[in-house]
Amino acid sequence: MNRKIVLVTGANGFIGRRLIHALRAEDLQLRCLVRKAGAISEENIKIVQGDLLEPATLPAAMAGVDTAYYLVHAMAGGRAGFERRDREAAENFVRAAEKAGVRRVIYLGGLGETGDDLSEHLKSRLEVADILRSGTFATTFLRAAIIIGAGGASFEMVKALVERLPVMITPRWVTTLCQPIAVEDVISYLVGCLKDERTTGGTFDIGGPDVITYKEMMERFGRIRGRNLYILPVPVLTPRLSSYWVGFITPVAPSVSMPLIEGLKNEVICREHAIRDLIPLTLTSYDDAVLRSLAAEA
Ligand SMILES: NC(=O)c1ccc[n+]([C@@H]2O[C@H](COP(=O)([O-])OP(=O)(O)OC[C@H]3O[C@@H](n4cnc5c(N)ncnc54)[C@H](OP(=O)(O)O)[C@@H]3O)[C@@H](O)[C@H]2O)c1
Repeated sequence: MNRKIVLVTGANGFIGRRLIHALRAEDLQLRCLVRKAGAISEENIKIVQGDLLEPATLPAAMAGVDTAYYLVHAMAGGRAGFERRDREAAENFVRAAEKAGVRRVIYLGGLGETGDDLSEHLKSRLEVADILRSGTFATTFLRAAIIIGAGGASFEMVKALVERLPVMITPRWVTTLCQPIAVEDVISYLVGCLKDERTTGGTFDIGGPDVITYKEMMERFGRIRGRNLYILPVPVLTPRLSSYWVGFITPVAPSVSMPLIEGLKNEVICREHAIRDLIPLTLTSYDDAVLRSLAAEA
């Protein structure tokens, strides 16, 4: 029997790179869509060069695909117009996938509820989910808050702040709750969804075992690094203003850090846990996820 073809878009990203590594152990034909040739050097993977903003490049990537992962995010390409680029990319993807008869799509996006005065970034992630769900294929939507792993934008921001600034004056939104998840657990869920057809067409919140504030996240990170942090939330500091100084401190581009910081005002915690019954995992604690990421970087 022919092994099914699985396409990974965003294959060269923080999540994509780890996912293709994990999928190599599965009995399937793996195909990756990348914008730059030579970006991926894993064996037994068919690389197709293409760009979701250039529809003519997509049929070659989509031909014969059973399931496609959607891990595309335009934010790194610049703050201005990332919502428009993400919308267009998703619309082009839907058209090409429908034409090629793709059966399933698995999308990893963000937590957050419509109507909760969401940041532009979180709104845009939900918009992409809606566009994908409008396709004739079945879309599985995994919704995550901050993902802890070496090289992840949010993780690198927290790390740089903790390591470079012993005293921080922050917007009061650092007291917002969030539910971080280890990147390894995200990858297990992404692979698990492919293997378990019960997840087809479903929307699932995914999160780690800890529900903590951003302030606590930084303090716990600091303790792991042997540093005492002094974090002073003040009501007058806007996220936009703080994103400027965060831009000076962290290696993360302002185009990425700014939308992320604007999103600090939105509580991002799991509202339901159906995925835990379908794909049982021993979830990694926040502290262990940080330790693991630091070890990986070292
Ligand atoms: N990182 C987190 O903490 C986090 C948290 C929650 C949810 N997520 C979700 O996880 C997903 C993946 O995020 P990530 O952190 O892996 O992002 P990332 O590292 O920025 O990767 C995004 C990928 O999208 C690709 N891409 C952008 N525009 C494209 C286009 N026009 N055509 C084709 N590919 C394009 C990029 O390609 P190039 O390599 O060519 O630039 C890159 O490989 C996103 O949907 C994000 O919302 C991430």
